Amino acid sequence: MIDLFAGCGGMTSGFTAAGFRPVLAVEWDLHAAATYAANFGAGHVRWADITTVTDVPEADVVIGGPPCQGFSNLGSRDVDDPRNQLWKQYLRIVREVRPAAFVIENVDRFLSSSEFGLLQAEVRPGGLLSGYHLTSGLLLAADFGVPQRRKRAFVIGSREGAIPLPTPTHPSWHGVRTVLHGLPEKPAATALPKSTVEYFGQTVPGRFTSADLHLGRNPTALSLARYQVVPPGGGRFDLPDHLLPRCWREKKTGTTDVMGRMRWDEPSLTIRTEFYKPEKGQYLHPQWEPGPSGHRVDRPITHLEAARLQTFPDDFTWCGSKIEIARQIGNAVPPVLAEAIGRHVAAHLGGTKAESACRLCV
Ligand SMILES: C[S@@+](CC[C@H](N)C(=O)[O-])C[C@H]1O[C@@H](n2cnc3c(N)ncnc32)[C@H](O)[C@@H]1O
Repeated sequence: MIDLFAGCGGMTSGFTAAGFRPVLAVEWDLHAAATYAANFGAGHVRWADITTVTDVPEADVVIGGPPCQGFSNLGSRDVDDPRNQLWKQYLRIVREVRPAAFVIENVDRFLSSSEFGLLQAEVRPGGLLSGYHLTSGLLLAADFGVPQRRKRAFVIGSREGAIPLPTPTHPSWHGVRTVLHGLPEKPAATALPKSTVEYFGQTVPGRFTSADLHLGRNPTALSLARYQVVPPGGGRFDLPDHLLPRCWREKKTGTTDVMGRMRWDEPSLTIRTEFYKPEKGQYLHPQWEPGPSGHRVDRPITHLEAARLQTFPDDFTWCGSKIEIARQIGNAVPPVLAEAIGRHVAAHLGGTKAESACRLCV
C-alpha cells in the first residue's frame, strides 16, 4: 500500500495490522515523517512535498487524505484551481498507480465540500478516476472499538466493484476507562527526555516511548480552580461567574464541549491537536468526586492518554516536541478504526478474513 499525507502513520498502523505492507509514505512535516519512520522504517518514506514526488511504486491500495483546504463555500470545481492542488496530487498518484482500491479519510464536512464534488466528477469516462466505483459516508470511531466519539468522512474507491463502507463492529462502545484506567494519576515529568535521533539526515527530538509521553503540566491557580468544579460530562457551563473568562461570560451559546470532563464509562469526544488545553475541548481526566475531600484528578489528559484514546499501541514511538507530537496524535486516523477498514477492504479484494479479535476487548 501507499500512504499519502501519512502523518505519524495512524492509518498505516491500522492497515499493517490488517496485513498490508507499506511501499511508499509521503509526508512533508519532518517530525511526523520521523515518527512514521521510527515505527515503520525510513526506507519507503519520502519526506517531501507531495507535488515533488515522482516514480511511484506499484501498490494494491492507496490510503490517506489530502488536508481539506476549503469547504462548501469554495465554489470552484475547477481541477486547476490552486486550492485544489493537493487533490490533484492525490488523483495524480492514483491515476499513475491504478490501485485496486483507495481509501480517503477527511473531516466530516468534506462530504459536502466542492472538493468532494470534484472527486466524484472524476469517475466519468476519461476522468482521472475513470473505472473506479466510489462509496462514501461518515464513520464513528466508537462503533469500531475506539473509546472516542470521533466522526470522520471516508471515501472508498474500487476498480473491482463498489466496496460498501464497513458496518459497525461494536454495538456497545468502550468507555475511556478501557484505556485510561491504571495509569499514574500524577505524571512524574512535565518535559520530554532530552534525547535526539537522526532521520533523513536531520536531527529531531526522539525517539520517545509511550511512557515518556505521560507528561503533566503546571496549571495556574485559576486554571486549577476551574478544573475542580467541572464534574464528569460537564464543561464551561459549570463554572461559577467569578471563574468565567470574559469571552465565555459574554458568549453564552455554542462551544459546549470546552473545559469538559470525560466520563469513565463513555467514549471521549474527538481528540484534536490541542488536547492538552482544557479550554479547547472535553479533555479533563474523568476522575472526579464531589466535596472538598472527593478524589479528583484535576488535569487535562496527557499525551500518552491521548495516544491511547486514539488507540495507538503502547509500543509506538514518537519524534518531535510536545506540541508536534500532540499534532501528530490529534491528526491521526485511530489505528483500531483504520484496521477495521483495512480488513474490510482486504476481504473485498480477496485477501485476508475481515474478522479479528478486538485488541481492546480482550
Ligand atoms: C490529517 S494528517 C494525516 C494523518 C494520517 N493519515 C494518520 O492517520 O496519522 C495530514 C498530513 O498531511 C501532511 N501534508 C499536508 N500537505 C502536504 C504536502 N503538500 N505534501 C506532503 N504532506 C503534506 C501534513 O503535514 C499532515 O501530517
